[in-house]
Amino acid sequence: MRIKERLFTPGPVPLPPEVIKALGQQIIHHRTPEFTQTFLEVREKLKKLLKTENAPILFASSGTGAMEASITNFFRKGDRVLVINAGKFGQRWRDLAKTYELKVIDYEIEWGKTYDKEKILEIIGEFPDIKGILVQHSETSTTTLHDINYLAEISKKLDDCLLVVDGITSVGVYEVYPEEIGIDVLVTGSQKALMLPPGLSILWYSDKAKERLSNSDIGKYYFSVLAETKKQEKGQTAYTPAINLIIALNESLKLILDEGLPQLAKRHEVMAQATREALKEIGLKLLSESPSNSATGAYAPAGIDADEFRKVLLKLGFRVAGGQDHLKGKIFRIAHMGYFDVMDIIQVISGVELALFKIGFKVDIGQGVKKAQEIISQNL
Ligand SMILES: Cc1ncc(COP(=O)(O)O)c(C=O)c1O
Repeated sequence: MRIKERLFTPGPVPLPPEVIKALGQQIIHHRTPEFTQTFLEVREKLKKLLKTENAPILFASSGTGAMEASITNFFRKGDRVLVINAGKFGQRWRDLAKTYELKVIDYEIEWGKTYDKEKILEIIGEFPDIKGILVQHSETSTTTLHDINYLAEISKKLDDCLLVVDGITSVGVYEVYPEEIGIDVLVTGSQKALMLPPGLSILWYSDKAKERLSNSDIGKYYFSVLAETKKQEKGQTAYTPAINLIIALNESLKLILDEGLPQLAKRHEVMAQATREALKEIGLKLLSESPSNSATGAYAPAGIDADEFRKVLLKLGFRVAGGQDHLKGKIFRIAHMGYFDVMDIIQVISGVELALFKIGFKVDIGQGVKKAQEIISQNL
């Protein structure tokens, strides 16, 4: 039989049946009351997801589109921003900010680590005119979580600074309530914990950030937050929306809200903990010192190419991600965000053990699975 492929990559992630069903429908036209009604429902659900009265806006783009919109709509050329650059997506903030002629303080951090609070204090002491702090809540390339609460405190202390958070692999994994935390701009994308195919990005902004909108001198057309806000408040979009994705988002948000956000966060925590502890039990070293609950990265054993190991794992039916840039061939990453449950974790850990065994690594078969089961059993 053909191998049954199980998707464990940190985006895209598997789709729930309700979403697949919604995606399989005949298209409807978007300039209709029918679409408007769905769109307004989605806005209400997004407000609940983010615990706010300000609905976010949607773009037909991948997540990077909303990242770009965060730069072009809320900043002016020459604004100084601090970028927490701890991986591939931190680099993306840096590159986007530079592209639009912002002055970037590039706080480069070793991959797998998070920022140092003392260093942040040092930077803001030297540059009190910082207009934005750009950070990933969950840096997917290194499976690292950054503490955004502390950055929110710092940002509030500064004169006129916005905290801009890439929540692409944290929204739907953690309880991310931007108003409570003190985030000014929050972006996310459809193909992660929102359990949809790629193609939708979401951008939320605070009242403080709103004041910047009419002031920005950076060119934009498609990604105009002002234009979209005006339209989307009325249940329409400025341009053709990703109609089927929005209809499917209505379904995935229903699943998320029905589960309940504290329960959803707990499920992700248990899956992440079980994955991490099981991999350690097998004898592997984790990549991150501050691991995120969305995905777990681990080094392949010494002398084993992680990409070769991934090929063996794929033959067993598990598609996991590899490392990027200098981590290529060194690490592998297992996702556990969105449509995953604890039994998926048992499966993938079992796959990892068998693949390691197959390539000749000395592994005590079942040891990792046992560890994962222990953790899960404590949280049943
Ligand atoms: C944290 C983070 N930021 C940004 C992106 C880029 O999103 P996209 O590929 O949807 O443009 C990703 C995608 O993996 C991500 O994980």
